[in-house]
Amino acid sequence: MPKLASYNGKVDSIENIKVSPMSRAFLFSDSVYEVISFYKNEFIDFETHLDRLKHSLNETQISCSIEDCKTEIEKLLSESKSEDGYIYFQVSRGVDSKRSHFFEESDCERFGFVEEFSFFNQSPLRVMLVDDIRWQRCDIKSTSLLGNVLQMNDAKSMGCNEILMHKNGELTEGGASNIFFVKDKTIHTPELSSNILPGITRQQVIKIIKDKKLDFQEGSYSINDLNEASSIWFTSTTKGIVGVEEIANLETKINPECELLEICKDAFVKKYFS
Ligand code: PDD
Repeated sequence: MPKLASYNGKVDSIENIKVSPMSRAFLFSDSVYEVISFYKNEFIDFETHLDRLKHSLNETQISCSIEDCKTEIEKLLSESKSEDGYIYFQVSRGVDSKRSHFFEESDCERFGFVEEFSFFNQSPLRVMLVDDIRWQRCDIKSTSLLGNVLQMNDAKSMGCNEILMHKNGELTEGGASNIFFVKDKTIHTPELSSNILPGITRQQVIKIIKDKKLDFQEGSYSINDLNEASSIWFTSTTKGIVGVEEIANLETKINPECELLEICKDAFVKKYFS
């Protein structure tokens, strides 16, 4: 079945949507996006995703009404026949009459689609440690993902399904997820900065960790910390919380079976998926 999609507010089958090649999303990747999950026809943390979209729009100076985005995302869900899945929604600066790096005031261009998805089939990840070659504003959820795409596909050729990035030895995040690790019975995650996307799942997991009064620290961490970690986890809207079974290019003593991971996973599933 073709996916249900929406283009500037008009809902249609994705096959019927035509986008101009002069779209700045197409020419410059001049666009931002969100991936918002829904379970049993209800969004998970919708307002938090909208707040992050607003941040991305403000930081890129794309003028677009967040209320229009909200209405269009809600319409996609209400017209979808899927019960569980996610909505991909992107906003570009609009369609240019001539290609120019310099932008002018224009109508934004909105595009979204629904993806049916089951949230409970995550096996432990095999990851590769790589250089973070991305730009310096990774707090913006931009569609300019070439750094992630290239590194993730290098990792795939080594039999991996995620990457763990570091910038000059300092751990940042995954290719499409945030990272947590356990060291000395304390759960750690890199603190937010312009090198990290403020993940909504990261925030949900931190709340669970604090509610459960587990030992927790946010900070600046190095590859050496991974060598001493007993467990590493990745979090994202589509992955939930998932453990790592191996880092292909690093010797570690990590174990995908971790009591703290199970506590967080159980609480996460109970809170958002039951
Ligand atoms: N990616 N870091 C990066 C670079 C990401 O692309 C993502 C999510 C996350 C986790 O954010 P959240 O918990 O809000 O999903 C962190 C989405 C799922 C994607 O691009 O498909």
